[in-house]
Amino acid sequence: MQRYEVHPAHPSGPLQRAAFEPAPLGDAEVAVAIKAVSLNFRDQLVCRNTYFSPIRDGLVPCSDGAGEVVAVGRDVRGLKVGDRVATLFFPHWQGGAPDAAQIAGALGAEMDGALSERFVARESGLIRLPDSLGYAEAATLPCAALTAWNSLFEAGALKPGQTVLLLGTGGVSIFALQFAKAAGARVIITSSDDAKLERARRLGADHGINYRSTPDWAQAVLRLTGGQGVDVVVEVGGPGTLERSLASLRTGGRIAYVGVLTGLAAQANPVALIPKAASIHGIFVGNRAMFAAMLEAIAAHGIRPVIDREFAFAEAPAALEYMRAGSHFGKIVVRVGE
Ligand SMILES: NC(=O)c1ccc[n+]([C@@H]2O[C@H](COP(=O)([O-])OP(=O)(O)OC[C@H]3O[C@@H](n4cnc5c(N)ncnc54)[C@H](OP(=O)(O)O)[C@@H]3O)[C@@H](O)[C@H]2O)c1
Repeated sequence: MQRYEVHPAHPSGPLQRAAFEPAPLGDAEVAVAIKAVSLNFRDQLVCRNTYFSPIRDGLVPCSDGAGEVVAVGRDVRGLKVGDRVATLFFPHWQGGAPDAAQIAGALGAEMDGALSERFVARESGLIRLPDSLGYAEAATLPCAALTAWNSLFEAGALKPGQTVLLLGTGGVSIFALQFAKAAGARVIITSSDDAKLERARRLGADHGINYRSTPDWAQAVLRLTGGQGVDVVVEVGGPGTLERSLASLRTGGRIAYVGVLTGLAAQANPVALIPKAASIHGIFVGNRAMFAAMLEAIAAHGIRPVIDREFAFAEAPAALEYMRAGSHFGKIVVRVGE
């Protein structure tokens, strides 16, 4: 079988394709033939060994996979051969507020991820998929979609009729656009590219702002909201955007702080939260209970994940470069096991 591994000191680059023999399956384990993997911004950092924390030699990258169960250990009760499943970004975070143990062991950084023909987990680390989603679509959900869901409906407590501000047209923001519109919210979205803003409008965005030609986009957001500001911001930037997101926020508003497209060292002064009685909530993907609620909403509203481009397994390095270049709209998928 084939998989990709990260070898930080490898002379021809950290990301290497390798053959491997699957280990014997444990009694509580489930083996999945991965059919599709989606990429997240973090994956290209891990695969170039520029991630914020050290990467173990031989780590299998990528958190987000979907596939078919091909074997189950004798103690597995909830899944059977033939079931269609997706990975959980945090296999130990099943519900509620997280503790340190629940958000330890993130796939594709701390534990082996899904960029492999075979993925093995306990059943609690997998979630069953509705038939309505294809494998490529389902593979887009574990990180970007769940982060968007958590940002809007858990941290953001978004209600119908409220206004959301989304930054850029990457994976998290496009899911947030689809979910926010399905929930009856008004969406303002920014992009560096007018053509992408037009695409976002076709997906339901109410207003688009080009953050290159309108660098002072917080003023534009205030104009669009009658000077009030927005109820929720899904803040995927960091330095340079957080200050503007704070300025775009209405009194009592909430920022779901997802980060980190513009870096780690935001300069914003939290004192700005006081006169607005506003809050910033750090987001770390989400848990299994949120994933289940999100799957129900996706099915109920017929939401189709937006896939910019699919790559073959052999093209995974090119797919990661494509992600790094940032010209995509929505998600990038690598097909596995064809
Ligand atoms: N905290 C968490 O749990 C969590 C989970 C998922 C992702 N993240 C982080 O969230 C961020 C977004 O993830 P993603 O998967 O959506 O990334 P992505 O798909 O790579 O998003 C790329 C897009 O971001 C936009 N962008 C880049 N710089 C921008 C800026 N200065 N202002 C506004 N938009 C900008 C661009 O959109 P345009 O081309 O339209 O300009 C770009 O195409 C990443 O930093 C990622 O690491 C965090």
